[in-house]
Amino acid sequence: MPHQRDYDVLIIGSGAAGLSLALHLATRYRVCVLAKAAVTEGATYYAQGGISAVMDQADSIESHVDDTLRAGAGLCHPTVVEAIVKRGREQVDWLTAQGVPFTTTAADDGTPTIHLTQEGGHSRRRVVHAADATGRAVEDALHRRVLEHPRIELFARHIAIDLITTGKLGGIPDRCVGAYVLDRTANEVVTIRAKWTVLATGGAGKVYLYTSNPDVATGDGIAMAWRAGCTVANMEFVQFHPTCLYHPHAKSFLLTEALRGEGGRLLLPNGEPFMQRFDAREELAPRDIVARAIDYEMKRLGSDFVYLDITDKPADFIRSHFPTVYSKCLEFGLDITAQPIPVVPAAHYLCGGVITDINGRTSLPGLFAIGETACTGLHGANRMASNSLLECLVTAKSAAACIEAEFGAVPALPDVPPWDDSLVTDADEEIVVAHNWDELRRFMWDYVGIVRTTKRLERARRRVHLLRGEISDFYANFRVTGDLIELRNLVQVAELIIRSALKRKESRGLHFTLDYPDLDDKNYARDTVLRAGDFS
Ligand code: FAD
Ligand code: SIN
Repeated sequence: MPHQRDYDVLIIGSGAAGLSLALHLATRYRVCVLAKAAVTEGATYYAQGGISAVMDQADSIESHVDDTLRAGAGLCHPTVVEAIVKRGREQVDWLTAQGVPFTTTAADDGTPTIHLTQEGGHSRRRVVHAADATGRAVEDALHRRVLEHPRIELFARHIAIDLITTGKLGGIPDRCVGAYVLDRTANEVVTIRAKWTVLATGGAGKVYLYTSNPDVATGDGIAMAWRAGCTVANMEFVQFHPTCLYHPHAKSFLLTEALRGEGGRLLLPNGEPFMQRFDAREELAPRDIVARAIDYEMKRLGSDFVYLDITDKPADFIRSHFPTVYSKCLEFGLDITAQPIPVVPAAHYLCGGVITDINGRTSLPGLFAIGETACTGLHGANRMASNSLLECLVTAKSAAACIEAEFGAVPALPDVPPWDDSLVTDADEEIVVAHNWDELRRFMWDYVGIVRTTKRLERARRRVHLLRGEISDFYANFRVTGDLIELRNLVQVAELIIRSALKRKESRGLHFTLDYPDLDDKNYARDTVLRAGDFS
């Protein structure tokens, strides 16, 4: 890539959000899509359960809205929930037209119809899927379509370092005009100018030691937006998925909630079921409740795991509905048709993020954020299963419409100086970055996990401030590398999570603290909003 490139739209991220937006825009505009690793490497590719959408005649938008609001524990924005949920079927139809092979079943008259599975929080079967590898089917289909498109340029191994804003260049009013990007293969920084920039950088699971997320989930978009002056919200609401495989070499491989939707039971190590003691919905209670119940039982019994057991189902059913889970577990010597699976919770999804409206518009002109990076108000204090891919697709579509409507009014792009690394040298201590990364992920797990206390959060805050200082020094003196960029962002996101958690002096949804174990609607039935320059 030459040192400076200009586009109509720069999309940072190539998951469901980024690729679908690129396809909507490319009919009219020149679009650049960046992926910091391989194009398909992102949470989207690993999504298992599916996409929630009202497809069944007996289902209704009201029911999907109600379930989402209930899971979100009082913090969802009802108008946003309704606007997104309404467009579920439209998005499933669009994906089918892009070539996504959703699983079908025969209707009463024998015609194939989309099969719906069930997940936690949903009061009925509502999850459209492609066996247990829905994300891979979506990502592969969108990637194929993007590669065919003459107006989309896709760059793998290009990691955005920071947004370029007219404010930072000394201009008024402030507007995002692109990003500095490290080409990891050529090892050089390029300047990309664009009329519109879109953050579609996914989540931040890598801030925790144990996570279902792929390595790219380092919260880059949130950190970049924060540094550029955007407001963020609800960062304390980190979702822990109840069931990841407990195995020393499994890297927290996810065991889809659909296993419980199809009858899987959670068992203590002695084989006793326990979810009935925590919630009337038992295994299909929303995730915050199930993850906390597992955490409680593991701590009570001093056990490293509990079991997920689906052996009551016929072996053929398990192999055809869950081929990915079945074969992955078999690689680790576990036959899930015949034995229970040891499971533990792991960090899975960030409900908070860059504040946007329903169209993905952030508080910085010229900048949009969509997908897991954004906080639209859909998820509140706890995301309901399979609502994330739905949100990625719906907001990509509405962001495209918004960009198109406003395209004519965008000011001309200003001159942007090239990246200046004349005053830095190559790092002499790469090991510092690796050690800081380990330290951060461990103390976030220990002190800012499923069950919190003010004392543990304060401890985490002191450590994160220390790390931030060290990394700023490193960043100021040494040439940037992918690892350093990611660590700098992770530390920033960790700081925002801790700060938000300390502000919420109650327990709600995914935020549970022993010091304030009750819900406090009088004082806290609102989003936790952080603004640049607010140091509390
Ligand atoms: P991602 O798909 O994560 O893509 C992020 C992209 O941003 C990547 O291309 C990455 O390279 C790029 N990127 C990041 N930082 C930079 C940077 N600095 N420069 C350049 N590029 C960058 N949700 C559901 O609704 N249903 C499910 O069944 C489901 N299952 C899940 C299973 C797993 C194991 C996981 C981890 C998540 C699951 N989720 C599910 C959540 C859902 O998959 C994600 O929230 C969603 O896919 C996020 O999509 P995205 O497009 O926002 O980001
Ligand atoms: C799963 O399949 O359990 C993950 C679904 C989700 O995170 O929405």
